[in-house]
Amino acid sequence: MATLTTITLLLLFPLVSFYFEVAVAASAAGGVRLGGACAINTNCTVNVTNSECKNKTCQCLSTFFSQSNTCQAKKALGTACKGNVECSDANAICSNNCKCKTSHYKDSTNNCKPRIAPTNTCGNPKNTSCVANAFCNATKCACYKGFETTKTGCNSLASSWFEGDSFCFLQDLIARFVGIWLLFVINIAEGVEEVALNKDCDVAQTASDQCSIANSECRDDSGTDKCLCETTHYANGGACVLRKSPKVSCASGECVTHASCDSGTSKCVCDAGYDPSPTISPTMCKFKLGYNALVT
Ligand SMILES: *[C@@H]1O[C@H](CO)[C@@H](O)[C@H](O)[C@H]1NC(C)=O
Ligand SMILES: *[C@@H]1O[C@H](CO)[C@@H](O)[C@H](O)[C@H]1NC(C)=O
Ligand SMILES: *[C@@H]1O[C@H](CO)[C@@H](O)[C@H](O)[C@H]1NC(C)=O
Ligand SMILES: *[C@@H]1O[C@H](CO)[C@@H](O)[C@H](O)[C@H]1NC(C)=O
Ligand SMILES: *[C@@H]1O[C@H](CO)[C@@H](O)[C@H](O)[C@H]1NC(C)=O
Repeated sequence: MATLTTITLLLLFPLVSFYFEVAVAASAAGGVRLGGACAINTNCTVNVTNSECKNKTCQCLSTFFSQSNTCQAKKALGTACKGNVECSDANAICSNNCKCKTSHYKDSTNNCKPRIAPTNTCGNPKNTSCVANAFCNATKCACYKGFETTKTGCNSLASSWFEGDSFCFLQDLIARFVGIWLLFVINIAEGVEEVALNKDCDVAQTASDQCSIANSECRDDSGTDKCLCETTHYANGGACVLRKSPKVSCASGECVTHASCDSGTSKCVCDAGYDPSPTISPTMCKFKLGYNALVT
């Protein structure tokens, strides 16, 4: 009798396991998290509204940004924000509010437009439409007094510091020498200067210790070079803190790559298509082998 039950179970096992495999596949088809692999838009939209399947990955529509596995509408100029990705204008940055970056001005239609070079017709509003050190002289952008007009802007020239009839040739020469020496010293000081988190830096500069905060680095941030936490770390109270591993308690934006903070359990959860690795006490999310097989 016992043998018969065992045999029945053994015969049923493939059927039962087939049933579970189908059920699991169906629930996967029910929804893919942002960043997870997808084949069609529905794979993404079924769980995350305003998402789409782009480049075989679930992503927010271009007018939305991702936050805790949801897609939030990008914000207009003047709206409070926490990061550059939140601003809708491609030429805006987040500095408490969404603002045009310094190379652009907010025009009368609330869009960021490139600032206008001297001798060209001013935009609207007039003065703020001109490049740095320029103003709108009736209808055309013009450099302020003491600035030299170039094709693209208004340059303050070292020589303009020493302009005037009272300077004789020798005085001029000495002044120029001192000026060049000062510029040299300032450049060195700038090269050595250490920069705090979110402050401007220079990616082109080779000094590796430009950014003063431990585990921060100089990176391009939507067109502006800034000291930001390395990708393995997140910013917290002016410091860079190591990102949290799968299954660890978290707040939004604190988890390792390919993981996000689950709003229900407040723990880091690997994105769809990724598994916690190593299994017992994971430190990362590893691509699930054969995951694509499920998609295609
Ligand atoms: C995407 O949707 C199709 C059709 O419903 C489904 O067959 C497939 O399993 C889904 N893929 C994922 C990754 O959910
Ligand atoms: C998708 O939504 C369903 C129903 O709300 C839920 O059961 C499922 O866990 C969600 N899947 C993901 C990957 O978030
Ligand atoms: C598509 O995804 C691949 C791999 O992640 C990436 O290298 C590529 O740049 C992406 N293409 C676009 C258009 O986003
Ligand atoms: C523009 O700047 C000039 C020079 O500073 C000033 O005289 C003028 O009043 C300003 N115009 C406006 C509209 O702000
Ligand atoms: C402003 O425009 C007036 C009239 O065209 C011109 O005479 C003057 O030199 C201009 N000023 C500057 C600073 O370009």
